[in-house]
Amino acid sequence: MQKKVNIPEILQMKQDGRRITMLTAYDYPFARLVDNAGVDIILVGDSAGVVFSGYENTLPVTMDEMLYHVKAVVRASPKALVVADMPFMSYQVSVEEARRNCGRMLQEGGAAAVKIEGGVNAAETIRAISSIDIPVMAHIGLTPQSVHRMGGFKVQGRKDQAERIMADALAVEEAGAFSVVLEGIPAELAARITEKMSIPTIGIGAGVNCDGQVLVIHDLLGLCEKYSPKFVKRYAELAPTITEAVQSYLEEVRSGKFPTDSHSFN
Ligand code: KIV
Repeated sequence: MQKKVNIPEILQMKQDGRRITMLTAYDYPFARLVDNAGVDIILVGDSAGVVFSGYENTLPVTMDEMLYHVKAVVRASPKALVVADMPFMSYQVSVEEARRNCGRMLQEGGAAAVKIEGGVNAAETIRAISSIDIPVMAHIGLTPQSVHRMGGFKVQGRKDQAERIMADALAVEEAGAFSVVLEGIPAELAARITEKMSIPTIGIGAGVNCDGQVLVIHDLLGLCEKYSPKFVKRYAELAPTITEAVQSYLEEVRSGKFPTDSHSFN
């Protein structure tokens, strides 16, 4: 049996030039499929709020909701490293609250690491969390919890903003993050950051020259019919397949074709 992926291994992958694969999952059946397929990291993203719960953005997601998802994913993931995304307001109020809430993700949820959004502004929090041996994945660039400040989900770090994103990257590395998600930034900037950092960068909408890539599983599988960002590649179109299966069931129940004798008991 393949052993569980751990943090030193993720760091080693950058040194060896092996690309890191990360996908989101929020529940037991999807996590099982993703873990079985051999992904390195499963992110229990607060994108759950959008693709699982149907909110407009990630801001309404709570600690209780995230813990529920994290526990289900951990039960299904014997191999992948499980990272728990910290929801809005679980780590911003004080360092003490951040430590307690991040600790809950490991102690109650069973995750191996947490992810928090922010660069220079989150450095003190990242330092406090990682100093008590809770591994932190940082997340900079287009940070969805800052949707109102950014005025929407817009590419960050273009032109004179680039150096601000570079400063964020250096700040989270210096604060002790073990890796950093680069979301929605120009590919050339992501390549420069990746080259400069000793910790792995994991890109989403950040070009090919990151140390790894992440996608939201519902996007990859074509389960989100509403909206598909430019950076998403849909590797399957499951929404019509599911609709067809459900319609076949409805038709067979209505016409008396299902259940047959083979689905019935004597
Ligand atoms: O919540 C999430 O799924 C994320 C990834 C898109 C990086 O933060």
